[in-house]
Amino acid sequence: MSPMKTLLLASAGAAAGAAFLSAAAPAPATDALKRGAYLVERVGLCADCHTPRNERGEFVAGAHLAGAPISFAPTVPMPAWAPVAPPLAGLPTMTDAQALTFLTTGKKPDGTAPRPPMPDYRFNDEDARAVLAYLRAQGKK
Ligand code: HEC
Repeated sequence: MSPMKTLLLASAGAAAGAAFLSAAAPAPATDALKRGAYLVERVGLCADCHTPRNERGEFVAGAHLAGAPISFAPTVPMPAWAPVAPPLAGLPTMTDAQALTFLTTGKKPDGTAPRPPMPDYRFNDEDARAVLAYLRAQGKK
């Protein structure tokens, strides 16, 4: 192969690589929603506490992530135990910036940590954005 041809091929490869990179970031909305659904529904299991249950312990239909009373108590004394898990569908209680801080650092807008039994999640930035996108989308149903 001539040096010129090699050079042309190399720069074409670099250009294709650059195009791929710019297409990959930011992730398309549907990918973020899919990732968010996976993190919320399959990993974080947010519904366990944030979706109300009926008297048989089944999730109440049509109330997915609508917020719920916490139906179990700690077996050791815990002074700070939250009686209610607030609504997550649409995440009405937080701005985007507040939600991203909360999901990545565990700090609420007032700087405090949520009370147990809310788990102390530390999502990375990309996953926090995916969780937020998914929760916002739940409010639009
Ligand atoms: C084991 C129960 C439980 C699970 C699982 C859980 N939460 Fe919570 N969550 C709570 C409780 C209880 C609170 C309220 C804490 C408080 O009042 O201090 C809360 C609070 C929150 C808040 C703060 C809302 C506000 O208005 O202050 C957000 C946001 C939140 N949870 C998101 C999530 C997400 C996202 C998931 C899943 C990835 C999740 N939670 C899983 C119990 C839970």
